[in-house]
Amino acid sequence: MRLTDCHNIDDFRRLARQRLPWPVFDYIDGAADDEITKLRNTDAFAQCDLVPDVLAGVAEVDTSVTVMGRKSALPLILSPTALQRVFHWQGERAVARAAGKFGLWFGISSLATVSIEQIAAIAPTPKMFQFYYHKDRGLNRSMIERCQAAKFDALTLTVDTIVSGKRERCARSGFTSPPRFTPSSLLSYAIKPRWALDYLFREKFALPNLDTHVGEGTGRAVSIAEYFNTMLDISMNWKMAEQLREDWGGTFCLKGIMSAADARRAVEIGADAIMISNHGGRQLDGSRSPFDQLVEIVDAVGGEIEIICDGGVRRGTHVLKSLAAGADCASGGRLYLYALAAAGQPGVERAIGLLKDEIERGMRLMGVTGVAQLTRDRLRWRGVS
Ligand code: FNR
Ligand code: LAC
Repeated sequence: MRLTDCHNIDDFRRLARQRLPWPVFDYIDGAADDEITKLRNTDAFAQCDLVPDVLAGVAEVDTSVTVMGRKSALPLILSPTALQRVFHWQGERAVARAAGKFGLWFGISSLATVSIEQIAAIAPTPKMFQFYYHKDRGLNRSMIERCQAAKFDALTLTVDTIVSGKRERCARSGFTSPPRFTPSSLLSYAIKPRWALDYLFREKFALPNLDTHVGEGTGRAVSIAEYFNTMLDISMNWKMAEQLREDWGGTFCLKGIMSAADARRAVEIGADAIMISNHGGRQLDGSRSPFDQLVEIVDAVGGEIEIICDGGVRRGTHVLKSLAAGADCASGGRLYLYALAAAGQPGVERAIGLLKDEIERGMRLMGVTGVAQLTRDRLRWRGVS
């Protein structure tokens, strides 16, 4: 299979599976427990249908939105994801450059393998830093100050990882950060020579936004579950989130909000946006999907805070349905990660290009020329008369 054989996100998933050692592929593809929520995140979009208008004059369509005060060429954010140079040696640099080429918001994780400063130097488009609230207060301060100095456009506090989800695929494979070549997994890495040579002989693995203060994840290989359960502050609460917003002083987003009550709390502490998210099903398996929960949250706080629907997106029509249901924007991780793993920056660019075409085509077939015309009356939920 080659890059040019990839015509949708699922094709990229197949190519990534071909190219990656299975422990690495399973880290991307995997989720928590029985992975019910991960599957539902995407299936939820099939539970409603779009009602198109025709003869609407759609020669020109404007797919742009303004979200968190910055213009985005598409109503789609590339969500922050960890360890990207383990998937492909170009890592976060490839994603930053692809986001720049298409004019999209993107995010880097606290566990990014490229530094805040290096990303700021190459990414002209709006960028968010995804903040994990660590026990180490010096580290928390360091990340805030480095993002302020690098002029990141938003700080996004992830709030759905107070403890790690049960990542059974990673438990089976022994996947760690950095990857450990154990006797049981060595073969899986050795039979992927392109990946192995890149990993071993290109830029050394690092977590440059963390290793100034902690060795876990770089000097000391740990699973993501162990990292979450030993390094993050389990006492994190709304008061601490509000204080973080004040310390940051800029555009502030909460990622992992799922209840209408919490969406209300986010408004009350002055957050600018929320990402309705269950972490791609990687945390609470059995959680409702963001798209299923979207209408309830829009009806509760729509217009008072920006709402991003995060997770399960694999098609342009998933983005259109999210907007019609009331989201200001959609976002996703695997939709570009499979492509990164499969083919680096050309892969991510192809994946975003496919989604851009699907969004434009979908708008034309819907008879809309701008995203504001995607309203709830364009949707019909199955099983509801
Ligand atoms: C993630 N996600 C994530 N979220 C976060 O806040 N910090 C992080 O470091 C990561 N890391 C990460 C790694 C991998 C491999 C995946 C797949 C996901 C979650 C991510 O931001 C997003 O919420 C989900 O990916 C959305 O689901 P989809 O789009 O992957 O279906
Ligand atoms: C994950 C963490 C890093 O989902 O957010 O793997």
